[in-house]
Amino acid sequence: MTDVTADRAADTLSRPFAVRGLSSRNRIAMAPMTRQFSPGGVPGEDVADYYARRAAGGVGLIVTEGTYIDHSSAGTSDQVPRFHGEDALAGWARVADAVHRAGGAVIPQLWHVGVTRTEGAPPVADAEPVGPSGISLTGEPKGRAMTQQDLDDVIAAFARAAAEAERLGFDGIELHGAHGYLIDQFLWSGSNRRTDAYGGDLVARTRFAAEIVAACRAAVSDAFPLFFRMSQWKADAYEAKLAQTPGELDALLTPLTEAGVDVFHASTRRYWLPEFDGSDLNLAGWVKKISGRPTLTVGSVGLDGDFFGAFQGNSPTVTGIGQLLERMERDEFDMVAVGRGLIGDPEWAAKTLAGRTGDITPFDAEMLRTLH
Ligand SMILES: Cc1cc2nc3c(=O)[nH]c(=O)nc-3n(C[C@H](O)[C@H](O)[C@H](O)COP(=O)(O)O)c2cc1C
Repeated sequence: MTDVTADRAADTLSRPFAVRGLSSRNRIAMAPMTRQFSPGGVPGEDVADYYARRAAGGVGLIVTEGTYIDHSSAGTSDQVPRFHGEDALAGWARVADAVHRAGGAVIPQLWHVGVTRTEGAPPVADAEPVGPSGISLTGEPKGRAMTQQDLDDVIAAFARAAAEAERLGFDGIELHGAHGYLIDQFLWSGSNRRTDAYGGDLVARTRFAAEIVAACRAAVSDAFPLFFRMSQWKADAYEAKLAQTPGELDALLTPLTEAGVDVFHASTRRYWLPEFDGSDLNLAGWVKKISGRPTLTVGSVGLDGDFFGAFQGNSPTVTGIGQLLERMERDEFDMVAVGRGLIGDPEWAAKTLAGRTGDITPFDAEMLRTLH
């Protein structure tokens, strides 16, 4: 991965991107990153400033950290912002406003952690972890299998959050369908052992996600786009795969597309890795090709080491973005999301667009301790 000229970076990444009523002034997104700086679940001025700094630093689209929907078992921390309750929603309105004033678009990432919830943890200490089958991602008994009432409640809670997001002035929403959290627990055969209409083959396992998408679509206006984040890997099951072949990926994507997903955010740890044999395309490339929907790619953009290392205190080396631009020039995907790079340097986007990658302040794992 060599470095690139300012003209080339600007030509490729400065093109605007629009979907329904959302418009991003360029192709650079901030990846959703849980930061746990929202005491009591309320994002404060510091959180609004943190996002606004990235927008002022040139990011076109901000995907916020995961934020809990209004369901008692949705969360597992009282430092993670929630997306319900007057106090938290007022905080989110400030975030949307601050990002808009700095020229960015912004969408909240709506989240239910499912069985990964730590028993006894806040925000609702006595809420039982729930998931498709009452087992953890490693297959041990945990929490309880969701009833039809639970499913209906969660679907309704996602839809309420989508409607609130539009009311508060956000530009769209992202459903967190990745990394082994609730929606993904249904998608993955390792965590979904149901024998009702929500379990079985890939199409049946997609049913819950598709019903959430459809309910969100029905709760918002035509101008409001729905993003869906998905991944093959899961926390606690890094080598897991939802789809082993392009055909299986098609089976997964079709119900979601039909339900109303506008944009897929294909989460990988290293964007340059081919997803299936016989082609260079990465996951975002395959998802775009199969679904016909625009996609975001993500994973170690401008860095040489994947993000799991960040949680062990590792700090990767900054690298160039030549390969990223080549892939974008081929239209493999539409936008690029940057995670750690944007924690390291709020001006990552502006510096990259100006061909000044050498001036980027590198991410350091210590930076996760503060919200700068
Ligand atoms: C501190 C931290 C928190 C994260 N939290 C979330 C999250 O809330 N939702 C999510 O979908 N991904 C989350 N991720 C994954 C990132 O969105 C992104 O996919 C990952 O960091 C790879 O991008 P990068 O290599 O540019 O950092 C998180 C990553 C980090 C480093």
